[in-house]
Amino acid sequence: MGKTTVAALLAAELTHRGYRVTAIDADPNPNLARALGFPPLPLTPLVELREEIEQRVGGGGGFIRLNPRVDDLVERLMVSHRGIQLIVAGAVARGGGGCACPQSVLLRRVLDHLVLERDEAVVIDLEAGLEHLGRRSAQAADALLVVVDPSRGSLETAGRIRRLAAEIGLVRVLAVGNRIRGEADEAYLAGGLADTPLIASMPDSDALRDAERRGDAAAVVDPAVTAAVVRLVDELEARLERRVSA
Ligand SMILES: Nc1ncnc2c1ncn2[C@@H]1O[C@H](COP(=O)(O)OP(=O)(O)OP(=O)(O)O)[C@@H](O)[C@H]1O
Ligand SMILES: [Mg+2]
Repeated sequence: MGKTTVAALLAAELTHRGYRVTAIDADPNPNLARALGFPPLPLTPLVELREEIEQRVGGGGGFIRLNPRVDDLVERLMVSHRGIQLIVAGAVARGGGGCACPQSVLLRRVLDHLVLERDEAVVIDLEAGLEHLGRRSAQAADALLVVVDPSRGSLETAGRIRRLAAEIGLVRVLAVGNRIRGEADEAYLAGGLADTPLIASMPDSDALRDAERRGDAAAVVDPAVTAAVVRLVDELEARLERRVSA
């Protein structure tokens, strides 16, 4: 629990430090816009551009083009609020194993485009799986942040995600603790994470719950949450040897 919250806070802090940030909501049940305080606009999810997908990728019984042009689609779908650009991916219909359905091809292509071809900080809110991440984006990604709360179930999920990440060549997996209530929670997490570094821990925060209810988690005012997010981005910058270049 806490993936969307952490993604929103991370995107906001990166923007604050001067990065150009694109946030992608790749959860089939999208709510990153709300966490980022976007006004309730109707946002077209990428996978609902049926005609464009048909034209670019094909798939109506014919061949599938794996490398369609997508930069113009990305520009068309992006909405921006407080300096953060957002794209909503939408829900991909699930096909059988190894599905190359046109929607999923387009989504992968868009992620590749954003991760590999644009010079921005890209924050992707994934569901608790890595399905939409193709090998190319996975290998180009600087890091996969696994948000873990201090429960056995969450630690097991983190283990599963780590194995999936290794399978697609995503090597840098880092943990972010969430809903931490004290040192015992922190110790429990650190002990259960094996060799995944725990780079920051978010407190369990009433202010964050309230901010979510207002539809603007990223605008939370809680010094302990801010300290955790600052620590998260400091750690990322140090580990990835990145600083904003502006
Ligand atoms: N550190 C925290 N303190 C208080 N509330 C939190 C904290 N982290 C998350 N929450 C609350 O828990 C709920 C779930 O959080 P969030 O939506 O970020 O999780 P998620 O992992 O994205 O869930 P989903 O699997 O539904 O996408 C939200 O209502 C959020 O406000
Ligand atoms: Mg979520």
